[in-house]
Amino acid sequence: VLKQGYNSKAWRCSNRSYSRVQPQASYKVAILGASGGIGQPLALLVKMSPLVSELNLYDIANVKGVAADLSHCNTPSKVSDFTGESELAACLRDVDVVVIPAGVPRKPGMTRDDLFNINANIVKTLVGAVADNCPNAFIHIISNPVNSTVPIAAEVLKQKGVYDPKKLFGVTTLDVVRANTFLAQKKNLKLIDVDVPVIGGHAGITILPLLSKAKPSVTFTDEEVQELTVRIQNAGTEVVEAKAGAGSATLSMAYAAARFVESSLRALDGDTDVYECSFIQSELTELPFFASRVKLGKDGVEVVILSELQGLTEYEQKALQELKTELKASIEKGVAFVQKQA
Ligand code: NAI
Repeated sequence: VLKQGYNSKAWRCSNRSYSRVQPQASYKVAILGASGGIGQPLALLVKMSPLVSELNLYDIANVKGVAADLSHCNTPSKVSDFTGESELAACLRDVDVVVIPAGVPRKPGMTRDDLFNINANIVKTLVGAVADNCPNAFIHIISNPVNSTVPIAAEVLKQKGVYDPKKLFGVTTLDVVRANTFLAQKKNLKLIDVDVPVIGGHAGITILPLLSKAKPSVTFTDEEVQELTVRIQNAGTEVVEAKAGAGSATLSMAYAAARFVESSLRALDGDTDVYECSFIQSELTELPFFASRVKLGKDGVEVVILSELQGLTEYEQKALQELKTELKASIEKGVAFVQKQA
């Protein structure tokens, strides 16, 4: 179960391991924005992990009830609640993995970049506290626009003198989860076997699924490639429109974020076979940040997988060139936001 994490059949079919009274490992996880649409189901999924001994939930409101509720689940981790900035430092002390889904989500008609003004400040403040209280933690940024909030986090950590690029992650797992689901549906494949790398960033055309590198290997018509790529890129908007003003993806996002947390914990615990796509500081292209598949280890990103960018189809090469302009601008906007306030 642990080796294969949230992708595994075993995880979906059995919960036997969760009846243990003692955790199988003793990692401390904090969720910042824990009473939100993503935060609550994410907290529930992390509460199920046998690798977690302490689960700290932080929000500016309504977190006490969420923690009281979750604390009744008979899984090993101890749940604690922290409300408001005066309790943020205590929430973060000695934490191994910090997950940040704090901030506002999209409403119909909005792009992720429309969230910049509010979420940029939230991420800046929260990452500042992470730098002060658990500078060695893996940091998972979910708050949008990820293409800008990750560079913001990097700048804050640099200013505090604790930036470790190997431990700062933009969570793009939902793009991979969606790509796997849609491809399996389209080609009638067994979901458990499907794995599509998604590179670039996390907004519109910056999300680039590499269908030519999908496993198992599948052949597509040009129309199929176009249709699947566009559906994966706009999947978030599909949910925003279906929710009609009540927010964006929360349940599938919580599932994806929990998978990324579990992968990080497995890597911290010494598993040497952990791979995920993530938006990180990168030398893969001329852009300073880029999402691609990476191997995770005890110290964070251990290897950036180069091979998936080799031998791209003409369609993928063109899409890669086209996404760079938007991604570059979003990265620069994040960096400038922190630097102009310095
Ligand atoms: P939500 O509004 O339901 O929850 C956000 C939570 O953040 C609320 O509980 C709120 O009280 C809290 N919050 C606000 N300011 C805070 C602060 N200063 N400190 C701590 N907590 C604070 O929103 P939802 O749906 O949970 O989405 C959260 C974020 O995740 C949004 O920015 C959204 O765009 C993003 N998102 C990212 C995805 C990804 O793939 N990376 C996918 C889906 C959403």
